[in-house]
Amino acid sequence: MPLPAPHVLIVDDEEHIRRIMSIMLGKRGYRCTTAAGGEEALRTAEREGVDAVLTDLMMPGLDGLGLLRRLKVIDPDIVVVVVTAFATMETAIEAMKAGAYDYISKPFNEDEMALVLEKALERRRLIDENRRLRKEIGEREDRGSFLGDSPAMRRVFGMIAKVAETKATVLITGESGTGKELAARSIHMNGPRRERPFVAVNCGAIPANLMESEFFGHVRGAFTGADRAKTGLVAEADGGTLFLDEISELPPEMQAKFLRVLQEEEFRRVGENAVRKADLRVLSATNKSLPQEVKEGRFREDLYFRLNVVRIEMPPLRDRREDIPLLALRFLEETVKRNGLPPKKLTPAALKLLAEQPFPGNVRALRNILEQAAVMSDGEHIGPDDLLFTGAAPGPAPDAPGDPGAGALLRLPPDMTDLKTAVRLVTAETERVIISRALETVSGNRTRAAQLLGLSRRALITKIQLYGL
Ligand SMILES: Nc1ncnc2c1ncn2[C@@H]1O[C@H](COP(=O)(O)OP(=O)(O)OP(=O)(O)O)[C@@H](O)[C@H]1O
Ligand SMILES: [Mg+2]
Repeated sequence: MPLPAPHVLIVDDEEHIRRIMSIMLGKRGYRCTTAAGGEEALRTAEREGVDAVLTDLMMPGLDGLGLLRRLKVIDPDIVVVVVTAFATMETAIEAMKAGAYDYISKPFNEDEMALVLEKALERRRLIDENRRLRKEIGEREDRGSFLGDSPAMRRVFGMIAKVAETKATVLITGESGTGKELAARSIHMNGPRRERPFVAVNCGAIPANLMESEFFGHVRGAFTGADRAKTGLVAEADGGTLFLDEISELPPEMQAKFLRVLQEEEFRRVGENAVRKADLRVLSATNKSLPQEVKEGRFREDLYFRLNVVRIEMPPLRDRREDIPLLALRFLEETVKRNGLPPKKLTPAALKLLAEQPFPGNVRALRNILEQAAVMSDGEHIGPDDLLFTGAAPGPAPDAPGDPGAGALLRLPPDMTDLKTAVRLVTAETERVIISRALETVSGNRTRAAQLLGLSRRALITKIQLYGL
């Protein structure tokens, strides 16, 4: 066994039982420590750290159940197996409720004990593994990869830290790709609700006729096709955070319903009279101007005020160019790692070119450019030629019907003199038009579009994101 022997703590007030168990388990390769009672066991666990605890229930002083509860406070994932005589069966059940992994009844059988212990340790390993993975994901979603060192971003981080502790509704505004969703997740992850769900909803993506039931759920038979009850997003987010993305797209009836959720913390399922409670923290985001929407009568003013208690404005990337190298290097590093590529470097010229771009698509566009460059470039260096700035060129409206080639040329900036760059832009533009046509042809079905274009589904999705289709 290459792993260190699992450390098992044996707790029993009877000396001979401790001895028998130690011998049995020692033979099977476990490292055993014994304790004659609850207090001693607790001290050992605190001092040495153990992988599993086998404990008798009836002991003078701190008994098995008390020990279990104390151990769980020190380490909620600790595996505890209780050993019990028939007389204490009820206590064994109570122990299971208090978080024991399993119980063995006395007199015990050696194989059974070994088996239970082995399973308990296996579970412990799974829990550890899970925690490690969660931590990795958490770190990636959390501040760890929410990057920025510019004064503007430092201000944003400061506001997030302050507001995360509270339940205040926060409206996050900013251009597309500036990190609004990342900010919302970060508020959730840094606040007291971090262990509860974060439910993100794109208000523009739910068909109007399904919206009420998507948000609030429905009872069985509420409408044709409702052959099952549905929980709804609001109830799913209970105790956690509901993130309403593209809030300006919420239709008027839903605006009224959300006002009630915010004011009364109440909602009603479709087809049900009973009023339900929801303890929510609501965050929302938009890249439209809500005051403008209010002025033009499309958005309720009272709801706007409720949502806009705290406002965080995500600065466009062009106003914080000092963040570009930091972001670019991180995106490159991540892509290289994710795809198992050899390490790559950005040349100073490439970095300079990046720092000069207008980036109408903000951080998302920067990320796409680097992901593409990392995958497409040969060799270890990424130079200016490897960077493909699609959509960076100002020009007439995209998607002009007609010859894709002509459309592409129309989008060239007037001062474009470098032939190589021009060709790349035209190629990219042609690709964009062809992909968008293919998607139209198959009504947006990506699998079929991929077949049509002779691309893998994944490659297609990458390109859809790249071109913002
Ligand atoms: N400061 C940042 N650090 C690291 N990654 C970022 C940062 N800002 C944005 N990103 C990345 O850029 C992409 C876009 O971010 P996000 O989805 O949060 O933007 P958004 O403002 O919600 O965009 P949209 O308005 O288009 O929905 C994501 O991949 C995100 O991880
Ligand atoms: Mg978003």
